Amino acid sequence: MWAHEAWAMGLMFVVDSLNKSFHTESGTIDVIDNLSFSVEEGQFLCIVGPSGCGKTTLLKIMCGLETPTSGNVLINGVLPNPQKQKFGVIFQEESLLPWRTVIQNVEFGQEICSGRCSLDIARKYMSLVGLVGFENYYPHQISGGMKKRVAIARALAVDPDIIMMDEPFADLDAQTRWILQKELLSVWSQLKKTVIFITHNVEEAVFLGQFVAVLTKRPATLKSLIKIDLPYPRSRLTPPFISYREKIIGMLQQEIPSI
Ligand SMILES: Nc1ncnc2c1ncn2[C@@H]1O[C@H](COP(=O)(O)OP(=O)(O)OP(=O)(O)O)[C@@H](O)[C@H]1O
Ligand SMILES: [Mg+2]
Repeated sequence: MWAHEAWAMGLMFVVDSLNKSFHTESGTIDVIDNLSFSVEEGQFLCIVGPSGCGKTTLLKIMCGLETPTSGNVLINGVLPNPQKQKFGVIFQEESLLPWRTVIQNVEFGQEICSGRCSLDIARKYMSLVGLVGFENYYPHQISGGMKKRVAIARALAVDPDIIMMDEPFADLDAQTRWILQKELLSVWSQLKKTVIFITHNVEEAVFLGQFVAVLTKRPATLKSLIKIDLPYPRSRLTPPFISYREKIIGMLQQEIPSI
């Protein structure tokens, strides 16, 4: 009922009363519990939550790679299906194909999506993420930050309806992370895509997101959906920024068992 109302209002992405449990040899594990939220077209949503709470599982359900136990994820009223909607996904354990050059890795996303690829499109996104000149390098010849850029270019080159990123900058040094955050915002403002971005880093979430969804510990449910009412570009040093950051950190601390 709720999902249909949201769709009628022009919302794009609806997570409605979602539950997910895994049944394994060692028993059942409940991972997502009655989770509901929605994302409008073109919105930048960050998702934060304690480690192991179910963020990656949620992302997989949202792009149709995992099925819910009950409840729904609907994109413009239909179930997610990688054959129908175009997702530009950057997974947590992102890896480039080592035997392909950088530009061939960017083309790879298009090949998977449509069976075809265009060198011009691959070059366009290589340029957008600042990798001109490195087209013919192999992954082992570029830095960690550049590998993330290739992954972003590969996700963008499919002209996705939705970009989903699972802790894409987690293992980068702070400086490279800041540069890539700014570049991602610049790409987002140019392309106006819907972005769903999972991170452990609260400062990153407040810097990037129009909204931050705070999840509880496993089984994940929505603790709070916070609108970050700050204009872009944001400064990490202003009192309102710090206040959002502290508020979200406080919420996450409530979810960590005391030791
Ligand atoms: N295919 C699976 N079968 C069984 N259990 C699974 C499966 N996938 C995930 N889980 C379990 O679901 C829980 C949530 O995993 P998930 O990867 O979604 O968490 P996360 O929030 O992304 O964690 P992290 O912050 O460490 O990335 C974990 O306890 C994990 O063991
Ligand atoms: Mg994860």
